Amino acid sequence: MSTADADAMRGKICLVSGATRGIGQATALGLARRGATVVIIGRSAERIKNTLALLRQESGSSCIEGIQADLSSVVETRQAAATFLAKYARLDVLINNVGGTFLRYQASPEGYELTWALDYLNHFVLTQQLLDLLKDSAAKSGEARVIEITSSIYRYSPAGFTRLQGQQGYNGVAAYAQAKRAQLVYALQLARQVQRSGVRVNAVTPGFVATGIAGNNGGGANLVMGLIRRFSLPVDEGARPILQLACAAQYKGVSGRYFYRFQEQKPDPSCAKPEHVEQLWRVSTEMAVL
Ligand SMILES: NC(=O)c1ccc[n+]([C@@H]2O[C@H](COP(=O)([O-])OP(=O)(O)OC[C@H]3O[C@@H](n4cnc5c(N)ncnc54)[C@H](OP(=O)(O)O)[C@@H]3O)[C@@H](O)[C@H]2O)c1
Repeated sequence: MSTADADAMRGKICLVSGATRGIGQATALGLARRGATVVIIGRSAERIKNTLALLRQESGSSCIEGIQADLSSVVETRQAAATFLAKYARLDVLINNVGGTFLRYQASPEGYELTWALDYLNHFVLTQQLLDLLKDSAAKSGEARVIEITSSIYRYSPAGFTRLQGQQGYNGVAAYAQAKRAQLVYALQLARQVQRSGVRVNAVTPGFVATGIAGNNGGGANLVMGLIRRFSLPVDEGARPILQLACAAQYKGVSGRYFYRFQEQKPDPSCAKPEHVEQLWRVSTEMAVL
């Protein structure tokens, strides 16, 4: 990253979801090192406290704050957005990073399938709640950026959103792939909707990254993840393409794109099909009670 890119983040406010470890934490650190004010969202007060201490120490910046919320909950996601809105008058970069995989069926606090709630629905809710602020910030400074952290596994999910995973016949990998597809479809559609406002929306797959993702699934899954981790990228490397999209001048004006790390890729054409986009918007709005 050039000095000009680093300087470009001074005075900017960035919000990163799911940043108490993994890619989110490394991304938050990268943003703080580049001089941005960084707000992280996490579910545990203790892990937020520890992360803030780590980020402040590693970046030398004191402009790092935390909001506590269980992002699998629509209600708590809305509260997190309200807390942010009450405190900050601008938002330059929103990084929807939080996610997880659940091999056994679990329900979110509002009774939705947990992967869908954690990997997609709160991204929709948080962004929609903060959209006016993003637009306002873009009007004042020329641009605001939203980045969806998705996964190339989305390709293995059926195109539509009429059937979401439920308790009956639950398949955790399919649930993850569908939520990641939803993120991508949402990002592409939002980019089209807000194009004239100066809000830029892109999606990125960070690659295989050695984090604790899927570490909650116990036994055999942990063994497999341990093996995969050996061949995975270090966490800092996973954050690098995200930081590029968030900070680099070369992405000014770039919107509605999908990247596998630094490489732009054509999204599966089904992601732009109006009936699928409409389905996703309908189901998201109903679940988010917007
Ligand atoms: N790692 C990869 O190879 C890979 C590949 C493709 C895409 N991705 C995507 O990258 C993103 C980050 O993944 P990661 O690998 O960094 O995962 P990770 O190491 O498991 O980190 C997940 C983060 O989300 C937080 N989180 C989990 N549940 C939460 C909840 N209910 N409310 C609020 N925060 C919650 C965790 O907080 P706690 O500290 O409280 O657990 C943690 O900070 C995900 O969207 C993932 O799908 C990862």
